[in-house]
Amino acid sequence: MVHSDAMAADQSADQSVDTDFERPPEDSYRLLVDSVVDYAIFMLDATGRVVSWNPGAERIKGYSAEEVLGRHFSVFYPADDLAARKPWHELEVAAEVGRFEDEGWRLRKDGTRFWANVIITALFEKSGSLRGFAKVTRDMTERRRAEEALKSSEERFRLLVQGVLDYAIFMLDPAGRVVSWNAGAERIKGYSAEDMLGEHFSVFYPPEDLVARKPWRELEVAVDVGRFEDEGWRLRKDGSRFWANVVITALFDESGRLRGFAKVTRDMTDRRRVELTLSEQRRLVGHLVEAQELERRRIAWDVHDDSIQSMVAVGMRLQLLANRLPDEDAATVRRLDEAVRASIGRLRNLVFRLRPPELDRHSLVQALDHYLTDVTGPLGITYRLRHSLDHEPPVESAITIFRICQEALTNVRKHAQASELEVSLSSVDGGTLVEITDDGVGVGTPSGGRAFEHFGMIEMRERAETAGGWWSLEGGARGGTAVRFWVPTPNGGGP
Ligand SMILES: Nc1ncnc2c1ncn2[C@@H]1O[C@H](COP(=O)(O)OP(=O)(O)O)[C@@H](O)[C@H]1O
Ligand SMILES: [Mg+2]
Repeated sequence: MVHSDAMAADQSADQSVDTDFERPPEDSYRLLVDSVVDYAIFMLDATGRVVSWNPGAERIKGYSAEEVLGRHFSVFYPADDLAARKPWHELEVAAEVGRFEDEGWRLRKDGTRFWANVIITALFEKSGSLRGFAKVTRDMTERRRAEEALKSSEERFRLLVQGVLDYAIFMLDPAGRVVSWNAGAERIKGYSAEDMLGEHFSVFYPPEDLVARKPWRELEVAVDVGRFEDEGWRLRKDGSRFWANVVITALFDESGRLRGFAKVTRDMTDRRRVELTLSEQRRLVGHLVEAQELERRRIAWDVHDDSIQSMVAVGMRLQLLANRLPDEDAATVRRLDEAVRASIGRLRNLVFRLRPPELDRHSLVQALDHYLTDVTGPLGITYRLRHSLDHEPPVESAITIFRICQEALTNVRKHAQASELEVSLSSVDGGTLVEITDDGVGVGTPSGGRAFEHFGMIEMRERAETAGGWWSLEGGARGGTAVRFWVPTPNGGGP
């Protein structure tokens, strides 16, 4: 047994029992304390020896009253606490300030530990001298275990979410600002946590979705029905697009208040590409487009090799003839020759539209430059053609790109009333990104739907999507119209 000399006190100071008749009889307290099994409630004398013991104390600590009465309460403390003289220190504090509270490990009779919440209250005589201490101890082992389990499961969960690479998993506050960010989000979207924390999640959406206020509508739906799922194009930090599967879940607390949103995003670009190439309808459209291109090329070559050549021959004969005729007849023949030459010019134009020869000579940029000159010249539109291509796209991609440009540029000529036009081509994400912007009258909001009922728009989109890419039309930065599309390079390494 450990004895203490830290607390010298008069042990015989128990005569001054309060005799005030309004207080309940002494034994009613004993009854109360004796019925409590959830708390160890016992008294220590001024030196720290146990002088009373209740069933709760017996249950929690394992000692019976006979075993423990008269022993110093330091028997409940582990060796390291004894070395630090903790029990004596606790009594000193209680005697000084009236009360001491602590949580820590305590020992049961069998030597096992339990996590205890302990309150020691100093008891004084009316005279002010220390009579002893009341000690209430609660076994918190279960609660502590539950808390630890929760903490470690939260920690495990945090680590799990942080470490997932295949999914972007992050949280938004109720306003849509990013409040957490995982490794998958960084990998898929290209933004680091520092980039994104506090930013609104609408930065992931392409301009056409922002015009339609899609990010905000998605949150509204999630709040209304709890959940929102979508597939669509999203933007990476570098501006490139990926095809995303997105699930947004609204998070409510127990009181039903909206706390924010969990957002899980998966990059489905590769899967979509496979699905698109496998889809029957796409294959059919692909075959049709291919057949159409072949037919156009055949006609173009026929017109070039046959019709144009024979008209050139006719022109040469007309010139020879004109040289031999008297002047007045020669003038007539020369006018005929001019008409033939104009027809040849128009036929060459037709050949170009059917199949720009530059495409078969592997120069998409030259073909576009040629076409831009044709389109803009008569209208006095100035154009800029910029390109930063890593490599010349293969012919089938080049044709797709050229055809979409052809329609977009025809629209500029027919509808835009533009004075400036800019076309840019760049290698992005294993494909070619094309942007065609004019400063004309603009198309209005494309989400209005009407513009898309025209065949030109449908055809541009179909061509891009059949090739596994995307197409969009939106208001340009300076008014006007911007057509943007991306066509992957087949087998050219995906994003
Ligand atoms: N660059 C543009 N500037 C202004 N309006 C445009 C532009 N491109 C398309 N549009 C509008 O969109 C409509 C749909 O275009 P499209 O589908 O190619 O059909 P079409 O050219 O046969 O009218 C056009 O009729 C025009 O009103
Ligand atoms: Mg059109």
